[in-house]
Amino acid sequence: MEDTSKLIGERKTLVGPFPPFNPYKRFEYPHELFLEWFQAAIANGEHEPQSMTLSTTDPYGFPDARILILKDIDENGWYFASSSKSKKGKQLEVNPNVALTFYWSLIGRQVRVRGKVMGMGKERSTNDFLNRGIVARAIALLDKQSSILEKRSDFDIALIEQLNRLKENPASVSNSWTLYRVVAKEVEFWQGNEERKHIRLKFNYDGEKWTQNLLWP
Ligand SMILES: Cc1cc2nc3c(=O)[nH]c(=O)nc-3n(C[C@H](O)[C@H](O)[C@H](O)COP(=O)(O)O)c2cc1C
Repeated sequence: MEDTSKLIGERKTLVGPFPPFNPYKRFEYPHELFLEWFQAAIANGEHEPQSMTLSTTDPYGFPDARILILKDIDENGWYFASSSKSKKGKQLEVNPNVALTFYWSLIGRQVRVRGKVMGMGKERSTNDFLNRGIVARAIALLDKQSSILEKRSDFDIALIEQLNRLKENPASVSNSWTLYRVVAKEVEFWQGNEERKHIRLKFNYDGEKWTQNLLWP
């Protein structure tokens, strides 16, 4: 036990130096600053800056979270794709309120997004689906994400069937594959500091425009 806490406790958190951040620069939309930070994450060697945590709640209000890939951002929101029949897809139908969390350790930055999810409709979801690799498409065509798998070989057999289906008909599309947009109402940018003098900048949408405020660290 002591060894375990030593093992964990000896890890260093927020080892800088980090790029400078001016929280007084004004932005019309938070995704503009997000894009600056995303580019800084790439420039500083972050391997997967597009990986993010999507938090949802189940019908009893019990939180759930998992990592997904960010597909795009624009002034309307943050985009991700998944199956509407998955656990998260069913949770989103009952409660579309979600949070996204990004952490880019090499630049000491965290971004937190809170908002509401909406499905982007058949055409955009189909486009996203068709841009996936063949194995990813075959797996999505199984339409079983998050349901119980009795044995691994069931998956192997079912996957071969779907791969054959795609070879015969490359335009096959999963009906449940959905491109979702998170329409944000709050976005917080957190710049870590080695001395723990962190900077927090919060964007809030008042229904017409975005406002920016500093938060106490
Ligand atoms: C780096 C990474 C990226 C992932 N990207 C996606 C994704 O874009 N879409 C997706 O449905 N699942 C993705 N997953 C798998 C999810 O974390 C999760 O296991 C799956 O969506 C089922 O979640 P659910 O049971 O809550 O619905 C990813 C996992 C990791 C670790």
